[in-house]
Amino acid sequence: MIFKHEGTKYPFEQWLAIFGEENNYLAPFVSNVSDDFSFEIIDEKLCLGRKDFKPFRLEPEKLLNYHRNFFKGHSILKEPLAKAVGIKKVSEAPKVIDLTCGTMSDSMLFVSFGCEVMAFERNPIFAALITDALKHSSVEHFQFHFGQYSGGESGVLYFDPMYSHPNAKTAPKKEMALLREIISEDRDAQSFISQFLGKQRIVIKRPIKAEPLLAKPHHAISGKSTRYDVYLPA
Ligand SMILES: C[S@@+](CC[C@H](N)C(=O)[O-])C[C@H]1O[C@@H](n2cnc3c(N)ncnc32)[C@H](O)[C@@H]1O
Repeated sequence: MIFKHEGTKYPFEQWLAIFGEENNYLAPFVSNVSDDFSFEIIDEKLCLGRKDFKPFRLEPEKLLNYHRNFFKGHSILKEPLAKAVGIKKVSEAPKVIDLTCGTMSDSMLFVSFGCEVMAFERNPIFAALITDALKHSSVEHFQFHFGQYSGGESGVLYFDPMYSHPNAKTAPKKEMALLREIISEDRDAQSFISQFLGKQRIVIKRPIKAEPLLAKPHHAISGKSTRYDVYLPA
């Protein structure tokens, strides 16, 4: 991985001194990432680049404003994801624990529904992008944790692991394309989520034609290319 600050390349140690030593947790991970990728600090904000992409950063406020504007003319209650987490009245939106925060896109959709969101991301590159994005925004009702959820919170668990895309027909958005290249597949998805089965409502995002990740869901809600499998507490 290449490290840059305002256009100039630095060795990781020097770059870290600029970015902040508290980000030292990145050290063991970034050494394995190809030099096609770069972490760049531009206008004091952390961006992820790849040689053929303009560096980008996560902008949760922009996502949130986009959703909020959309819901001025559309009903939240008709959204497949809102139905999947059990929203019947907007004033009673549940707390959601987003176990797979990634690019924050689904998290911000939940915030726009009126949910309190607690989100987790274990990939250090995306965790750094999320943490930095939050430093530069004022998103409320959203709490982020680097690492894996270990249980104990009430609320709906939302799980959207990375799966392989051998037959993908549509090109993903740039952020998601990079996420796929860096992570490729969350091979432990089934074992990780199965430990919470039966304890609280779980929503698992799946490609529309894929088999469920766990046993038969209680019910499923389908969108255009995505299906949400819903598991209820025992
Ligand atoms: C398909 S992406 C999620 C996309 C996300 N829903 C969004 O809106 O951008 C999967 C992400 O979940 C993370 N992840 C997978 N399993 C996890 C786990 N058990 N704990 C924390 N993060 C996990 C991966 O590192 C990856 O960033």
